[in-house]
Amino acid sequence: MTKNFFSTIALRTAGFSSIAMAIVSVGLLVYLKDFTRAELILSFSIIFFSGFVTVYSVSAWLHNKRINEINRVLKNISKKKFEEYENLEEKEGDELDYLSLQAKKASKMVEKELLRLNKIENYRKEFIGDISHELKTPIFAIQGFIETLLNGAIHDKEVNEVFLKKAMRNVNRLIYLTKDLMEISKLETGEMKSNFQEVYLHDVVLDVVESLQYKAQKEDVEILVNEFDKNLQVKADRNQIKQVLINLIENGIKYNQEGGRVEVGLLPTKKDSERVRVYIKDTGIGMEVKDISRVTERFFRVDKSRSRDKGGTGLGLAIVKHIIEAHGEALHIESEPDVGSTFSFTLTKVSHVSL
Ligand SMILES: Nc1ncnc2c1ncn2[C@@H]1O[C@H](COP(=O)(O)OP(=O)(O)O)[C@@H](O)[C@H]1O
Ligand SMILES: [Mg+2]
Repeated sequence: MTKNFFSTIALRTAGFSSIAMAIVSVGLLVYLKDFTRAELILSFSIIFFSGFVTVYSVSAWLHNKRINEINRVLKNISKKKFEEYENLEEKEGDELDYLSLQAKKASKMVEKELLRLNKIENYRKEFIGDISHELKTPIFAIQGFIETLLNGAIHDKEVNEVFLKKAMRNVNRLIYLTKDLMEISKLETGEMKSNFQEVYLHDVVLDVVESLQYKAQKEDVEILVNEFDKNLQVKADRNQIKQVLINLIENGIKYNQEGGRVEVGLLPTKKDSERVRVYIKDTGIGMEVKDISRVTERFFRVDKSRSRDKGGTGLGLAIVKHIIEAHGEALHIESEPDVGSTFSFTLTKVSHVSL
C-alpha cells in the first residue's frame, strides 16, 4: 500500500503550523497575564490539537479528491478499463488538474490504440481465413483432375484433354488470385503509392476498351465509348486508373447477357466543376440493393459459381475502391436486377490542381 502523498503533506503542514500557532499563542498568553505552568501546558495542547485537526482536515480534503481521481484513472488504464471522460480541453488549473487531464487523455489514447490493434488483428485473421478458403477450391480441383488422369483417364482419348484443360483453368485461377492478392495487400498496407501524373483520359479509355474487345466478342457483348473531349487531362496514376477501368468494364462484360452492351463515357457535370465523373453502364444481370453496398468487400460475390466460371477472384471491386480512395475520389454504384448496373467514379481535372 503506497502512502498518500497529500496525507503526508497535510500531516506535515498541520504539524508545523499548529506548533507555530500554539507557541505564538502561548507566548501571547504569557506576555499578557500570569498563568500557572499547568494552565500554559493545557492551553498549548488545546491550541496545538485544534489547530492540527483543522489544518489537516482542510488540506487533505482539498487535495485527496483530485489525487484519488488520478489514481483511479491510472488504475483503470492498467486494468484495460476505459471510462468515458468528458471535457478534455486544457483549462486553467494547477499541476494536479493538469495531471488529471493528462491521465484521462492517456486513457482515451490507449483505448483508441487497443481498438485499432484489435481491428488489424481481426482483419488479418479474416484475410488469412478467406485466402485459405479461396485457395482450397482450385487446388482440390487440380488434385482431382490429375488423380483421375493418373488412375487411367490419361489413356482415354475422350476425356484426357478435357481434364487437362480443366486443370489448366484452375491453375489460371490460382494465378489470377495470387496477382490480385498481391495487389490488394500492397494497396492495403500502403506499399503501393499512387504516382500522380497528367493523364489524357480519352487515351486511357480507348486503350482499355481495345484490350477488352476480344473478351467482349467472346461473350457477345458490345462495348461502346460515348465520345468526350480528347484533350481532357486528369490528375491520376495512369496504370491504376487503367486497372480500375479494366475491372469495371470486365465486370460489365462478365455480368451481362447475350447481345448485351457496356457503355463507357463521362456523365454531365457543371462546366466549371473541378471534377469529371466517368461511368461504366451495362445492360446486365444487375444486383439487389442489399448487395450493392457489399460488392466492394473482399471476396464478396453475389453468385459465387457464376463469378468463378468467369474467372473472377472476388477482389476486383475491392481493388477498384482502394485505388479510387487513394486518389481522394469516390465510387458510386447504381443497379437494378435484370436491368443493369452503372458504376461511376470521379477524377480531378488537371486545370484545377497544381502538380
Ligand atoms: N456490372 C456488374 N453487374 C452485376 N453484378 C456485378 C457487376 N460487377 C460486379 N458485380 C457483382 O459483384 C461481385 C464482386 O465483383 P468483383 O469484386 O469484381 O469480383 P469478381 O468479378 O471477381 O467476382 C461479383 O461477383 C458480382 O456478383
Ligand atoms: Mg470483377
